[in-house]
Amino acid sequence: MLITEAFNVLSSPEGRRDPYPGYAALRAHGPIVRLRPGFYVVTGYDLISRLLRDPRLEVRGWPEGAASRLVGDSMLKANGADHARVRQCARDAFSPRNADRLRGVVTEQAAVLVEYVAHLGRSDEPVDLMDEFAYPLAVRAVSALLGIPVAEQQWFRERAQELTGALEPFRAPGPSTAADRAAGELEEYVTALVRRRRAEPGEDLASALVRAHDREAGALSARELTANLVLLTLAGFETSANLIGNGLGLLLDRPDLAADLREDDGLADRYVEEVLRFDAPLQLTSRWATEPVVLDGIGTVEASSHLLLLLAAGNHDPARFTDPERFDPFRESPPPLSFGAGAHYCLGAALARTEARIALPLLLRRLPGMRRAGEARRRDRLTFRGFSSLPVTCGG
Ligand code: HEM
Repeated sequence: MLITEAFNVLSSPEGRRDPYPGYAALRAHGPIVRLRPGFYVVTGYDLISRLLRDPRLEVRGWPEGAASRLVGDSMLKANGADHARVRQCARDAFSPRNADRLRGVVTEQAAVLVEYVAHLGRSDEPVDLMDEFAYPLAVRAVSALLGIPVAEQQWFRERAQELTGALEPFRAPGPSTAADRAAGELEEYVTALVRRRRAEPGEDLASALVRAHDREAGALSARELTANLVLLTLAGFETSANLIGNGLGLLLDRPDLAADLREDDGLADRYVEEVLRFDAPLQLTSRWATEPVVLDGIGTVEASSHLLLLLAAGNHDPARFTDPERFDPFRESPPPLSFGAGAHYCLGAALARTEARIALPLLLRRLPGMRRAGEARRRDRLTFRGFSSLPVTCGG
C-alpha cells in the first residue's frame, strides 16, 4: 500500500475502529515517513521514544477555537522552563501520600460499583460496563484527585468527552462547536471550583494549584490555573475509563487469560501493562522541530516540521515486540509508549494504573459468569481509543 493510502486509512471510520492495519501499512515504509514537506509520521518504537526526549522538538497548541486554545494554555502544550514551572505546581497532588489516599478511594468505589453491576446483572438484561463501571470509576477517581463533588460528576463527564473532539488529528479545520461550547462551560465551572477551594482548601489537585497560584506571583497565572484544571479532567476521565474498557474487552474474548487473573490478582500489573501496549487509550501525540534534526541513517527533518508520533504503532513494532498482534500478558518486553516519555510523561500514570489493576481482577472475581451480550461499540475517535458501550450479561 502507498504511504498516502495507508495514512488515509487512518482518517476513515474503519481506520478509527481498527487503526492497527493502517499503522502496519505505514511501518512497512520505515520507522518514519514523510507525507509531504514539513509533515512526518513516526511508527517505530525506538524512534518515537527518542524523539519524545529530544530537546530539539517542542509541543505546540492550535490557535483555532476556544477548546484548542484552552488545552493550548495547559502544561501539555508548554515548553522548557514554562513547562517545568507549571508541572512543578501540580506535583503536590501526586505525592505518595495522596497516591495512598486515591488508592483508598478507588478500592472503595470499585467495590461499590461492582456490587451495582452485580445487582443490575440479576435480570437477563445486558449491562453496559462503560456506563455502569468504567466511566463512573474513572470519574470518581479523578474527582477525588481534583476535589469535585460527586453530584457534579456526570455533568463533568459529558463536557470532558466533548472536549476530546478538539484533539483529533483529522478533524475539519476551524473551531469545533461542541468542543468549544464544552470548553466555555468547563472554564466557568473550574473558575467557581477555584473559588470554593480557596475558601476551603483540601489535599486535592485544585487546592494544590490554587496554593501555587496564590503563594508566589509568577508561579502560575490565573489562565494557567484554569487551563490545567480543565486539562486534568480531560486527561483523567476519558483515558482511564478507556484503559479499563479496553482491558475488559480483551479479557471477555480470552476466557483462558481471564481465568488466570481471576485466580491470581498478583498478575494484574502484567495484564495492565499489556492492555496499555496492545490497545493504548491515547494513540498518538505531536511534536514540532525547532531546528533541523538529523536522524542517523534516516535523513534530516527540516526545521518547523510537524511529527505525528503514533504511540500505539510503536507499541506494535515487531522490531521490539515479538508477535506484536498477540495479546500476551506474560511477554517480556520494553515498557509501552502509552504514557509518553520525557518531559511530558503522563502525570496521572500511577493513578490510571492503580484504577485498572484494582478494577480488572475485581470484576472477574465478583462476576465470573460475565459474557459479552451483543456488539460493543467503539467511540469514533482516533486519538482517544475506547468503547462507547460494552454490553455484558453477568450470568444471573
Ligand atoms: C490510561 C490512562 C492515561 C493515558 C494512556 C495517558 C496518556 C498520556 C500521554 C501519552 C501523555 C503525554 C502526551 C505528550 O507527550 O504529548 C500524557 C500527559 C499527561 N497526562 Fe495522562 N494519561 C492517562 C491518564 C491520566 C490521568 C488519570 C491523569 C490525571 C488525572 C493524567 C494527566 C496527564 C497530564 C497532566 C499530562 C501532561 C503532562 C505534561 O505535559 O507534563 N493522565 N498522558
